[in-house]
Amino acid sequence: MKLIALVGSLRRESVNLKLALTLQERYRGKFELDIANIGTLPFFDQDEEENPPESVRKLSGQVAAADGVLILTPEYNWSVPGVLKNALDWLSRGDKVLIGKPVLAAGASPGMYGTLRGQLHLREILSSPGIQAAMLPPAGNEIAVAQAPQKFGEGGARLTDERTLTHIDVVVDRFLELIRHR
Ligand SMILES: Cc1cc2nc3c(=O)[nH]c(=O)nc-3n(C[C@H](O)[C@H](O)[C@H](O)COP(=O)(O)O)c2cc1C
Repeated sequence: MKLIALVGSLRRESVNLKLALTLQERYRGKFELDIANIGTLPFFDQDEEENPPESVRKLSGQVAAADGVLILTPEYNWSVPGVLKNALDWLSRGDKVLIGKPVLAAGASPGMYGTLRGQLHLREILSSPGIQAAMLPPAGNEIAVAQAPQKFGEGGARLTDERTLTHIDVVVDRFLELIRHR
């Protein structure tokens, strides 16, 4: 199985990128996870949507070819970062490659609520007509890593908190079932 990750932070030391790398390594036996480059996409411009730039065509092709999408994102001002919204806006036009595509969201933050408010916004965006992603129901399936600095081990390179990882194991298995049964 092949999945693609969209990471909503461009920061070199991003905990959300490190979360993506944790999942990439932890589930190597279950799926291959490529991390898309959304930081170089130009701002969405409706004048260009019929003839999108190469970076957008590449991302669109990667998403179309993937069995599912993981979104690992910070919360910015109680919502999603502009870089992620921009990528989703591009993907919501043209071939609309997210329609019916299984998408699982997760987020990490140093704060108490682990991006949950941002993920509520994200869920609305992912339900919009141009996206219509296939998602697990939110109850019991939210992955929100609060107080992230305490949960990333030695040097903070990977998520190491066992309780959080056990929860993610369960949700990822449900997500893989969603993919298999769609
Ligand atoms: C513009 C901006 C807005 C932010 N807004 C929130 C917020 O609404 N909720 C929150 O928990 N953290 C917020 N933060 C703090 C981020 O959670 C923190 O910087 C986090 O480490 C960013 O994720 P990253 O490490 O993947 O880059 C904000 C940070 C920035 C730069």
